[in-house]
Amino acid sequence: MNIILMGPPGAGKGTQSEKILAKYNIPHISTGDMFREAIKNQTKLGMEAQSYINSGKLVPDEVTIGLVKERLSQPDCANGYLLDGFPRTIPQAEALEKLSQEIARPVEIVVNITANKDVLVERISQRRVCPSCGNSYHLTFKKPQVENVCDGCGASLIQRKDDTIESLNVRLDAYENQTKPLVDFYSEKGLCKEVDGLQSIDDVFKNIQDILDEVK
Ligand code: AP5
Ligand code: MG
Ligand code: ZN
Repeated sequence: MNIILMGPPGAGKGTQSEKILAKYNIPHISTGDMFREAIKNQTKLGMEAQSYINSGKLVPDEVTIGLVKERLSQPDCANGYLLDGFPRTIPQAEALEKLSQEIARPVEIVVNITANKDVLVERISQRRVCPSCGNSYHLTFKKPQVENVCDGCGASLIQRKDDTIESLNVRLDAYENQTKPLVDFYSEKGLCKEVDGLQSIDDVFKNIQDILDEVK
């Protein structure tokens, strides 16, 4: 399956990607995760992206498109892909049209997870992540077994640098102005399905499974 997961910051894209990956075994491509990995390793890409990400701004299209082009050309994507956080602008969506044709894997479904600002602020402020393995937690809804310790690898949990209220406001603006127009872009093609992200993590996943099982 060739899937896009869309939604504002904190809607649950990463959380649901993990569950989709476990059930359907589709390569999970998160541009945010790829940028964070590059920053951790201090690569050229990481140094270029760092200031944009920490302040909550979108990384320029040509950088992001180049990254996804390379990733989609890897052999595992011949069986499909789950894009999380890409595309986020109209030029990125247009580039994806071309890239997906090149690998003969056109987008089949766009799942748009919705949530309101109050909930997004709450989720982002309560999120904790593992700096070592990337696992993600929530202080109330997805608690680690031992307070502040990663279940997967035992490292101490941290907050993402862009999970401050200042950066979140910039990210929400970027979503409204640059990403939300993609809902129309994909709705006009008949590809967009909405899921209510205010439900529990498991109920959101149930809705997503219903949508994906129809595509299969
Ligand atoms: P990215 O990493 O994609 O961040 P984002 O879009 O802001 O989204 P988040 O990862 O914050 O939220 P999420 O929807 O994954 O929520 P999660 O599942 O973690 O991008 C980061 C930055 O990279 C961008 O700002 C930009 O600078 C750059 N970038 C990335 N892609 C780009 C692109 N294409 N173009 C340009 N720049 C790009 O959930 C959040 C919390 O809520 C967690 O604690 C979770 O446990 C909890 N939770 C989730 N679902 C539920 C639920 N249903 N009920 C209760 N709690 C829940
Ligand atoms: Mg995420
Ligand atoms: Zn860990």
